[in-house]
Amino acid sequence: MPRKKLIAANWKMNKSIPESVSFIDNFKNSIKSTKIKDFRDTENPKDFPVSSKNEIVICPPFASLNEVKKSIKGTKIKLGAQNMHFEEKGAFTGEISAPMLRDAGCEYVILGHSERRAYFDETDGIINKKIKAALKNKLKAILCIGETLEQRESNETKAVIKFQLENCLRSINNEEIKNIVIAYEPVWAIGTGKNATPEQAEEVHLFIRGLLKKLYNVDISENIRIIYGGSVNEKNAKELLAMKNIDGALVGGASLDPKSFAEICNT
Ligand code: 13P
Repeated sequence: MPRKKLIAANWKMNKSIPESVSFIDNFKNSIKSTKIKDFRDTENPKDFPVSSKNEIVICPPFASLNEVKKSIKGTKIKLGAQNMHFEEKGAFTGEISAPMLRDAGCEYVILGHSERRAYFDETDGIINKKIKAALKNKLKAILCIGETLEQRESNETKAVIKFQLENCLRSINNEEIKNIVIAYEPVWAIGTGKNATPEQAEEVHLFIRGLLKKLYNVDISENIRIIYGGSVNEKNAKELLAMKNIDGALVGGASLDPKSFAEICNT
């Protein structure tokens, strides 16, 4: 069975609550005008067509989760968060837990984003704990991995990817891994306007799939989704998504504009 494509919007620390709601309204209108035949909504086909083959996930800031949840009701758009703590509750001022995100209507959570690693000192060990907490609470994890420019230039890309993947997935079993999506996000391509070429991304995705085959088995490695993130926009999405091992996109900057994001989803 072909892997379902997943297009996720990572808004990062952007958009007020009214801006988030207005995005969803505009996005629904933009996507409605699509000519792509497989866009349908089973409950209300005329009102809002969303592909049954693909998944769209919006990850707004925490403050907007509730209003976005209301705005996407009746559509097949899914809600995701951008981070969480690994504990379920307690004295962790300023943090949010997996059960709280479930409560808020999230189905997905982004974990291990390079901005979390760089600015908040998240290690693979912490990310591993977060993944376990997410899965325990029935959240699907979008696990981000990727090398810096310096690492790429010194030919360390594969070693870095292997290290991050093995350590983030430590003691995640064959059942649990099915609820994880891997996002390959080369740090040098994030927010720089300089995306990896489809060939560069495909090479790493194929490498990740090979690692997953060794860590798990061929079935798991063939079914798991590996999405690409790093300066994806409406112009380069088609070429990237056409690659055999690229199963979707994690979009930052271009996901802030409803028209651009709709065009990427329609790709
Ligand atoms: P940009 O699309 O802005 O490069 O951000 C990518 C990203 O970090 C998605 O998580």
